[in-house]
Amino acid sequence: MIKKFTFGTPTETEAVICREGIVEPGEKVPYFSVASSGGDQDKSHVLTYGMGEQDIVYGLGENIRGINKRGWLYESNCTDDPKHTESKHSLYAAHNFFLVDGTERFGVFVDAPQKTVFDVGYSDRDRLTVTVDEGGFVLYIVEGESLRHIVKEFRHAIGRSYIPPKWAMGYGQSRWGYKTAEEIRQVVKKHRDNQVPLDSVYMDIDYMERYKDFTVDEEKFPDFPGFVREMKDQKIHLVPIIDAGVKIEEGYDVYEEGVEKGYFCKKEDGREFVGGVWPGRVHFPDMLHEEARQWFGKKYKILIDQGIDGFWNDMNEPALFYGEDHLKEVFDQLKEYQTKELDIDTFFGMKALILGIANNPEDYKTFYHNYRGERIRHDKVHNLYGYYMTRAAGEEFEKMEPDKRLLLFSRASYIGMHRYGGIWMGDNCSWWSHILMNLQMLPGLNMCGFLYTGADLGGFGADTTEDLMLRWLGLGIFTPLMRNHSARGTRSQEFYRFGHLEDFRNIIGLRYGLLPYLYSEFVKSAMTDDMMFLPLAFVYPGDETAAVTEDQLMVGESMMIAPVYKQNARGRYVYLPEDMKLYRLRSTDSMDSQILTAGHHYVKAELNEVLIFLRPDHVVPFGKGGCNVEEAESSSLRLLHFVRTKAVYDWYHDDGFTRDVDLEKGITRITVEAHGTIASAGAGRCQWSLI
Ligand code: GLC
Repeated sequence: MIKKFTFGTPTETEAVICREGIVEPGEKVPYFSVASSGGDQDKSHVLTYGMGEQDIVYGLGENIRGINKRGWLYESNCTDDPKHTESKHSLYAAHNFFLVDGTERFGVFVDAPQKTVFDVGYSDRDRLTVTVDEGGFVLYIVEGESLRHIVKEFRHAIGRSYIPPKWAMGYGQSRWGYKTAEEIRQVVKKHRDNQVPLDSVYMDIDYMERYKDFTVDEEKFPDFPGFVREMKDQKIHLVPIIDAGVKIEEGYDVYEEGVEKGYFCKKEDGREFVGGVWPGRVHFPDMLHEEARQWFGKKYKILIDQGIDGFWNDMNEPALFYGEDHLKEVFDQLKEYQTKELDIDTFFGMKALILGIANNPEDYKTFYHNYRGERIRHDKVHNLYGYYMTRAAGEEFEKMEPDKRLLLFSRASYIGMHRYGGIWMGDNCSWWSHILMNLQMLPGLNMCGFLYTGADLGGFGADTTEDLMLRWLGLGIFTPLMRNHSARGTRSQEFYRFGHLEDFRNIIGLRYGLLPYLYSEFVKSAMTDDMMFLPLAFVYPGDETAAVTEDQLMVGESMMIAPVYKQNARGRYVYLPEDMKLYRLRSTDSMDSQILTAGHHYVKAELNEVLIFLRPDHVVPFGKGGCNVEEAESSSLRLLHFVRTKAVYDWYHDDGFTRDVDLEKGITRITVEAHGTIASAGAGRCQWSLI
């Protein structure tokens, strides 16, 4: 049951698209006390909930800190911040859905495109407050029998999650620094020569001509369509980046057309807003304006026509290195500083001035959108920009390629964007703590509809190490988006930069072995509005230890994972809510297994091993692997198994690219009896055996 409450005159976000089962009771908001301040039009609101001592708060999607969000303050205010330290309040997304579980159990979605602050026991340990910036918003209270049920209700209301093509669940190699076709060829060759699986190579900003969207630098990439074909022949998909800002340059068609048609965001005086990003001075397409959005979305065709079938949208918070008007003021003020003695006040004043050049909240108040026929100031809808950029692409892809799924993911997002694409977790760092942060984000993202997601494996900023890379892959082999990406200037982190090729081949290879299960679980989760990565408490309600377990997750219906995320560890403590069978995987052909009883265990895990824990009466379809997703397809699959009485698994399989996904058509029901007989019924013709 979902109850809807409207405050003021909210801006439609199109996050909620299915209204069936949503009631507007007209009564007082349950659970919360509500306070408002400000004038009639510009009220800001504060919702307050008194938390019980043991209450747990889940959700809020892409954010720092734990699975339990208690004890910190989170701001939904999409921000380009490449240092995800514990002290931050905001990353690239605004995912305003959370669940309270304890004395009472309910879900809350605050549908507000403006800045919204969630103080989850930060100011007062026992109080949760939600403060919505000036303007209206819609509050949805979701109730259900269980945490999982509440999430499903909510997910149903926001619509089906994006399903990528299957190749996009293969391994991808990326680096901000690949500049030429030749460099990319070498990356691919190294993988193929060493039999390390690979399905995609990402093209960061250097492929473009002077960082202009939808252009390809012909000197570095002569005969681009030919190069795309050459890669396709090797089963490699090239995935170019698209940035939000459009370079201001005479003769550049996207810029000229955008100006001519009035599709860029404008200032109060009607002139285009000028910001600075990679290309230098840019205009921002008005992604909220339907016509402009369609226009921008159609531009992707320029690359699709050259054979491209996947994109990542970036810098779409939108990131601002500077706003031009403000920058001029800063330069003037700096001249004044030149004449001053720089002491405690003036020096720090100057520093703040300089640091305030990028992503300045004041700049976001100086330009406007034309949204649903109304002029609306950017800061009032700031959190929608990345969502609508990705929607621009997603909607046009459907028209351009009605029969084929394309890969699409974004950096900035708002709930609703999950229907059009996935997200990656942004500019993390090569820090051990970020493996855990990556794991802890997954369930919150799933709650908000983002199933296709993953982090920059190995870490984006800072220098990685071989052991960090391997351990991160130990988690990354489970995340739908599995991409090794790093920043320019950092240590290179392709597998061949390190000494133990074999370990990389085997661990990355495991992903391909697990693919029959992971793809099946992914699609089933998307189609049934379920989560693929679950906190233990969602599966074992009432188990007090499961409720506080912050470094293990359930992945789909059959397994639990417990990655190692500490340097020099040779194993870790693991909590088992019930008896489980541990598979210690070294490659698709080398593994051992052992049954462990419920409770706490210290389990060994060397750098070249990945642990998975099977629930009783469950199986995991497991393939032989391959050098790419296509090669990993097989008509004979094995089953990792822990069967005490009987296991029944509905295995979903399809061609991996058709847009219309039909669960019933794609499901094979596999039944395994305790004594080892396997029966299968349904779509897939496959040979099954136990391992
Ligand atoms: C941003 C992206 C990063 C990319 C870089 C250059 O920082 O988050 O992934 O490599 O821009 O395009």
